[in-house]
Amino acid sequence: MNITEVETKEELARAAADLIAAQIKEKPDSVLGLATGSTPLETYALLAKLCAEGKLDFSRVRTFNLDEYAGLDGSDPHSYTYFMNENLFSKINIKKENVHIPNGAAADLALECENYDKLIEKNGGIDLQLLGLGYDGHIGFNEPGDGFIKKTHTVTLDRSTIDANSRFFAGADEVPKTALTMGIKPIMNAKKILLIISGADKKEMLQKALYGPVTPRVPASVLQRHKDLTVIYTNEGSLILKGR
Ligand code: F6R
Repeated sequence: MNITEVETKEELARAAADLIAAQIKEKPDSVLGLATGSTPLETYALLAKLCAEGKLDFSRVRTFNLDEYAGLDGSDPHSYTYFMNENLFSKINIKKENVHIPNGAAADLALECENYDKLIEKNGGIDLQLLGLGYDGHIGFNEPGDGFIKKTHTVTLDRSTIDANSRFFAGADEVPKTALTMGIKPIMNAKKILLIISGADKKEMLQKALYGPVTPRVPASVLQRHKDLTVIYTNEGSLILKGR
């Protein structure tokens, strides 16, 4: 585990963008696993800037997003598909056919999940997986539960996830209650994982995830078992990890 503490969100974004850019330069047809949410926004802006300046080429890059709300079509401004188009894909020279996001509006969600796993495998698995951390310890939308769910699956979102994500909607009632999420297997099979965390309110969960017992009650704790995990977090509010 390689842990870096930075002072500000800007430094976090810079460090994360540098790592992603290095991955693409080393392997121009890299398969990236991508996350939505607030934490990667500045990182995506920096990657878009590098691309606009001609310093980074996404023309051969392939991407797989972690998750999507069930029932939302990609044209819905609340969908993660829309979010990714707005914040990254429309600003870089990636090919449409190389972008993959679970289809939340698919008629058969179970089949959609099955096909998503197959497609990840067909592309040789993920080279670099970017992750954020949920308040309840989720990664992707793998919520706390009795066991780690390996395959991509539909999930009922936890109350805390719905509340946290209500900031993107008119209110908590508007947040879809179910989602499709990449399972733990394709995430853990990624050759490299980059976990980024910002905010003093995630301190306790980060501590548990990195140094507590590995348990499906804290889904991110499984990352302790990954052999190439990089964690970058901001130390706002004295976010000091014990056990390093
Ligand atoms: C989003 C995702 C989630 C978020 C997590 C943190 O695609 O997979 O696990 O990474 O909920 O979200 P933010 O960054 O908004 O705090």
